[in-house]
Amino acid sequence: MQKIWITGANGHVGSALTELLDCTEYQILTTDKEEVDITDLEQVKQYMHVNRPDVVINCAGLTNVGYCEEHVDEAYKVNAIGVRNIVLTASEIHAKLIHMSTDDVFDMVTERPYNEFDKPHPKTIYGKSKEAGENFITKLMHRYVIIRSSWIYGIGKDFVDEVLCSVGTVASMDVAINRYGVPTSSDELAKIVRYFIDHDEYGLYHAVCKGSCSRYDFAKAILEYAGHAEELELIPVVVEGGLRPEYSVLDNMMLRLTEIPEPKDWQTALKEYIKEKGGIE
Ligand SMILES: NC(=O)c1ccc[n+]([C@@H]2O[C@H](COP(=O)([O-])OP(=O)(O)OC[C@H]3O[C@@H](n4cnc5c(N)ncnc54)[C@H](OP(=O)(O)O)[C@@H]3O)[C@@H](O)[C@H]2O)c1
Repeated sequence: MQKIWITGANGHVGSALTELLDCTEYQILTTDKEEVDITDLEQVKQYMHVNRPDVVINCAGLTNVGYCEEHVDEAYKVNAIGVRNIVLTASEIHAKLIHMSTDDVFDMVTERPYNEFDKPHPKTIYGKSKEAGENFITKLMHRYVIIRSSWIYGIGKDFVDEVLCSVGTVASMDVAINRYGVPTSSDELAKIVRYFIDHDEYGLYHAVCKGSCSRYDFAKAILEYAGHAEELELIPVVVEGGLRPEYSVLDNMMLRLTEIPEPKDWQTALKEYIKEKGGIE
């Protein structure tokens, strides 16, 4: 049985993966900042050498975009140096690293989905620090998988949750019609992570559901699939400026080229998620 160490296990992605990975198939170790602060090399080293995981899944990160702008050193310390610490110590015990990264490494003026061969061009400190983390991985180790995903939902307070919680609480909600991305269910993401745990494939991969939409279309679909379309008015708004990229659609080119099964289309995955959650009346 492979031993998997999930860092940042209390966060959205970390807790979704902890829940979705089958503990009868893998021995799962979970830590967050309180147990192992990834910015502390000695802590990471000690945990790595005592537990000797076969695979480390790094879900730890400083992910609040606005906070990162205001706390530049802290952003790089967690998103870049923290990753470097994991890389150095995972390499010492020949563990595989699966690292979660983001569409925020792109912010170019384009309306074509970004593939793994496009050069990153982040605008925010969050995006820049995540790119720096990716660079430590690609320069310092071989047995890695970097997974860039986007608009992940599936556990805790995410956009799906925010929209559904607004039903019956407020009469209307403003949603951007000029922000494009790919909603990705944590179920679909977990399947990809499982694939990389079990197979000897390495490199940089985009892993998002198929298709793309605006935030407004995403909110509309959430309400429709949950049977609440009439109960909350969605007001389409054009967001000027802001920190997030306007167009951040990822293309799963590397999954296609290496013939790894791609996630479902975003509408099907969303319908399944809401049905499972009991959101359809
Ligand atoms: N959610 C998305 O839609 C999305 C999309 C694309 C990529 N990603 C990537 O997926 C990863 C996880 O995202 P997420 O949404 O799960 O973020 P999250 O909810 O903010 O979780 C990150 C976790 O990392 C912990 N952490 C922060 N600093 C740490 C440190 N020094 N040592 C150890 N743990 C630390 C956080 O603890 P505190 O909360 O106590 O700080 C939190 O539990 C990130 O790298 C992000 O870039 C997420």
